[in-house]
Amino acid sequence: MLPLYVIVLAAGEGKRMRSEQPKVLLPLAGRPLLAHVLDCARALDPMRINVVYGHRGEAVRSAFSSAQDLHWIHQAVQRGTGHAVRLALEDIPEQARVLVLYGDVPLLRPGVLQRLVDARTPLVLLVAEVLDPTGYGRVMRDGLGQVRAVIEERDADAEQRSIRWINTGILAADARRLRVWAANVRDTNAQREFYLTDIFAQAAEEGLPGLCIEVPDVKEVLGANDAMQLAELEAHFRERAALEIMRKGVRLADPRRFDQRGSVRVGHDVEIDIDVILEGEVELGDGVHIGPFCQLRDVRLGPGTEVLGHCDLQGVVTDGLCRIGPYARLRPGSELAEGAAVGNFVEMKNTRLGAHAKAGHLSYLGDANIGQHVNIGAGTITCNYDGHSKHHTEIGEEAFIGSNTALVAPVHIGARATVGAGSVITKNAPAGQLTLARTRQVTVPTKHEECGKTDG
Ligand code: UD1
Ligand code: CA
Repeated sequence: MLPLYVIVLAAGEGKRMRSEQPKVLLPLAGRPLLAHVLDCARALDPMRINVVYGHRGEAVRSAFSSAQDLHWIHQAVQRGTGHAVRLALEDIPEQARVLVLYGDVPLLRPGVLQRLVDARTPLVLLVAEVLDPTGYGRVMRDGLGQVRAVIEERDADAEQRSIRWINTGILAADARRLRVWAANVRDTNAQREFYLTDIFAQAAEEGLPGLCIEVPDVKEVLGANDAMQLAELEAHFRERAALEIMRKGVRLADPRRFDQRGSVRVGHDVEIDIDVILEGEVELGDGVHIGPFCQLRDVRLGPGTEVLGHCDLQGVVTDGLCRIGPYARLRPGSELAEGAAVGNFVEMKNTRLGAHAKAGHLSYLGDANIGQHVNIGAGTITCNYDGHSKHHTEIGEEAFIGSNTALVAPVHIGARATVGAGSVITKNAPAGQLTLARTRQVTVPTKHEECGKTDG
């Protein structure tokens, strides 16, 4: 077995996208196209991944600066796929198996690629039979199904264009021969580019015609050349993620209205209503229910937690059976202990709600530690920011905070304390007592009432 070297072609401009960003950085399921291709390449455990970059190259490199396993090859001028591979081969030893992938073909899976890598022939091409081959190179095959040549659409005549076997672009070859073939490619074609695809005619002439491997699922080799195709890939990605999560037993109200843009771990009897987006690392415990129109990013929900509709949760951890929403916004550092409940129009940030504590309506709870069985009245605000820095609020267990209370932090509310509605609390409130910080109610008689009195 020869050591595997992967070449990823990612230098092209992607004109048809009409974007200021390099195409391979455009997001699919929230991550750059190229990141998906690299994941797939890594699954094959290669010796090295050579990424050919060029157009707006520094942006591409810096987007992947934390990846240590990439070898970057600069293609200053994009002179074609053949030229790009020629450059990448300069750093690859003779005794190697080479796999060529495209930075804009992101739905590939390692299974079919492994077959290309393992094939015991010097040259293998991944092909697909499609209904509409427009835009792709066409694969001419001989009676044995081997590749005689690949013709680019622009250079094809009407008969060649009618062929529905397309070049996916993805191929595996032995480095030694590929180097010779790539060096012989000429730019005598409609685009005056060095087409990698020309190596197939050369190989056939040498009596080493490329082997064809048909991709089992055409979706895997779809490229993202324009905004329409990118949206199509997004839909395929969504469908794939939905199938995967349903295989784990999750009940999706509508698989077409579910988006997963990251990794998800699930327990049993998880139910997800329509139009839910899961991002980053999400963990949903046994019996978790997610209501409609929710977005969850990097959250860990304990068993039995129920999220009602229209919630936005990021960086949230719940510990057991909690109830959130509808219309709650929980930001990073929100922690809910067993039985805690957060209702509509409540925002939390960097705040822990103790067991069975409740914030039912219209509150902002930031930088706070709230004890168990505390009741937060409607309209309670932790005033955690003084214009310079953030301050902490501590609320002891079983405290009762009346509606429309402003807690000016730093402040401490003792256990079992009661704070009267409408208070502006600027000093600590002692445990077990009623604290009020508002003006007394007075009734001032009006002129009209005085007249009334004299009349009567
Ligand atoms: C290419 C194939 C075509 C195939 C199709 C499959 C060639 C000549 N054509 O066409 O047969 O059906 O892919 O999707 O190979 N790139 C570079 N450097 C360059 C030129 C391109 O790195 O100088 C990269 C691009 O960034 C892209 C890939 O190579 O990731 C393919 O280039 P693109 O221009 O998209 O080729 P297609 O016209 O799609
Ligand atoms: Ca392409």
